[in-house]
Amino acid sequence: MAKTSYRDDHAFSIHFFLEVFSRFGYGANGITRLAYTEPEKMAKTQFVKLCENEGMNVRLDAAGNVIARRSGVGEEKCAVACGSHLDSVINAGSYDGVLGVLAGLEVVRMLNRRNIQTRYPIELIAFTCEESSRFGVSTVGSKAMVGLLDMDVLAHVKDKAGMSFEEAVRLQGLDFARLPQARRSPDELKVFIELHIEQGPVLEQNKKQIGVVSSIAAPTRFRLNIAGEAGHSGTTTMELRKDALVGAAEIILAVEKLTTQEHHSFSVGTVGSLHVLPNSTNTIPGKVEMIYEFRSNDRESKYHLNRSLIEQIKDISERRGLTVESQLLSDESPVELNPFVRNVIKESCEVRGKSFLEMASGAGHDAMNMAQLCPTGMIFVPSVRGVSHHPGEFTEPFDVEAGVDILYETMLRLAEPIC
Ligand code: GLV
Ligand code: MN
Ligand code: MN
Repeated sequence: MAKTSYRDDHAFSIHFFLEVFSRFGYGANGITRLAYTEPEKMAKTQFVKLCENEGMNVRLDAAGNVIARRSGVGEEKCAVACGSHLDSVINAGSYDGVLGVLAGLEVVRMLNRRNIQTRYPIELIAFTCEESSRFGVSTVGSKAMVGLLDMDVLAHVKDKAGMSFEEAVRLQGLDFARLPQARRSPDELKVFIELHIEQGPVLEQNKKQIGVVSSIAAPTRFRLNIAGEAGHSGTTTMELRKDALVGAAEIILAVEKLTTQEHHSFSVGTVGSLHVLPNSTNTIPGKVEMIYEFRSNDRESKYHLNRSLIEQIKDISERRGLTVESQLLSDESPVELNPFVRNVIKESCEVRGKSFLEMASGAGHDAMNMAQLCPTGMIFVPSVRGVSHHPGEFTEPFDVEAGVDILYETMLRLAEPIC
């Protein structure tokens, strides 16, 4: 289809835009562009401008997702869509999420420059609140689009500063009660493609340029409120203590031990968020709030891990005189991506002369929700040393360009160029 490559006729603008977007939320330790905050809003505003500049129609949906549309020339109403997210974790790098959004923009820029019209409309979607870093809940934008929101959970979650989810969306000019109105019908989208960095070492180790994602391991997350008894650290004897943090430490080790011993090699477990109260040098920790997650491509394995952990938490809390309340934040099923879309991506790799590998994704993505709405595929590009969720996240410029090439070829095949 495409006769020239991205490198042949472009001024490598995606690299420039990656640099521009890395300014939103930039600080001493990388980028922090949390969901529903000013830095994320600035990134969305910039994205809207760039899309409008390419002649696209842009709208913000009820959940805060940005949807930009390039018209097709036929009667077809359903769009060939691609995209990813603009929010980040705390102390992030420049590629996670943003790369997929900007690669989609680059596809549209290339179509415009080459004056190519397509039969199907093309959509770029910048999802909001993909990361769980602020509220413990993830992929909120795509869940809203697919009709998978759990409004009860969202009504009760708060960020570390104590701001409720409801208040955070209100400050962004959104109405919490209207979030479910972002839901779309399956006949609006022919297909959804997400380009993303791999965030792991598999492509690099196998010396492949492109990952064609076969399945996505989905997380199950719980928040634990562990309550013991705060007290004087100098006068309370060791036998009298009900130290919530020591209890939490045992739970963290249990998460590690259980997942290390689990038969399923793709199962992983993490405690990445811990809030200690009163967090004071000379006071025994009275309360701990923590979030743990298990991820796997095997649903049974995740359930097995969680059941075992719950038994251990019971034992730890009884032994230590602690009370533990648990709240389910999310429980998502591993997702198999669409075989037809995977084939189109593989054909694109063959046509464009790029080496590829079919592989599973250990990270969660908006694509896992979109797969419930329409045929969905994912394109991975290598992450140097597999580093991600870290300021050192890096993808070689030529790998970025290879990814754009494959996204372009795939989108064009699906949207059908009018010659
Ligand atoms: C997304 O970054 C995830 O947590 O998998
Ligand atoms: Mn991420
Ligand atoms: Mn991501």
